[in-house]
Amino acid sequence: MMEVLILPQDVAAELVARHILTLIQHKPDAVLGLATGSTPLPVYRALERLIAEWEVDTSRVRGFALDEYVGLPEGHPQSYRAVITREVIEPLRLTPSQIRVPNGATETIKDAPAEYEAEIAASGGVDLQLLGLGGNGHIGFNEPGSSLGSSTRVKTLTAQTRHDNARFFPSEDEVPRHCITQGVSTILKARHLVLLAFGESKAQAVAAAVEGPISASNPASALQLHPHTTVLVDEAAARHLSNAEYYASSYRNKPDWQAL
Ligand code: F6R
Repeated sequence: MMEVLILPQDVAAELVARHILTLIQHKPDAVLGLATGSTPLPVYRALERLIAEWEVDTSRVRGFALDEYVGLPEGHPQSYRAVITREVIEPLRLTPSQIRVPNGATETIKDAPAEYEAEIAASGGVDLQLLGLGGNGHIGFNEPGSSLGSSTRVKTLTAQTRHDNARFFPSEDEVPRHCITQGVSTILKARHLVLLAFGESKAQAVAAAVEGPISASNPASALQLHPHTTVLVDEAAARHLSNAEYYASSYRNKPDWQAL
């Protein structure tokens, strides 16, 4: 089941953060799926504030990042290991071993996908997976054309994704060409998927993910197959949804409106 909530970005971030902390209160060793990029940052900032306010014990929480660039030198500030350290591990006062990130080192890349899959499985599986949305419909780095049955593997980034992510690098040329990413089927194994998308630049991708046909050409459309997906978008990102008014009224009329 897919639920669509149309909310301002800050309200959505607060709602998701509160939901995550409630999950951790009920399940202190909850397994979180983490996304990088710009979209989830307000959620991480809300978590930072609320963990202190609610005095939540996060010492047993575990987490898995969706993806990593292949071939960046260890410690590169734009490696997703470094981003997760900066944006999640340090501000949320976690220890580095609590959060796993796929290993993008070229020397070990052959075995890294299967190892990552095994680690996720051994954790008992992801309870809540945060997802951003690529302008081209990617989730994780599953670019258009990715098999909906895919598991963690090495992928080539599209020119559009390298262009979109050039803002984090000194030049577009320095954006890596390859990544290691959880597959679409890996993502679908998480018990609850939470997709966030904000701003006009995501509007087409949101409409295709939520209302479009399910297709490998649009990996995010696979979320429609999941029994529990929550999509949080702002008005701008909801612009091309044909059923926006219906989603808004379902949310308004939901008895337990705070639960995701
Ligand atoms: C990041 C990831 C990507 C991003 C997507 C949106 O770990 O897996 O799918 O979520 O590219 O990026 P932003 O949020 O920067 O627009």
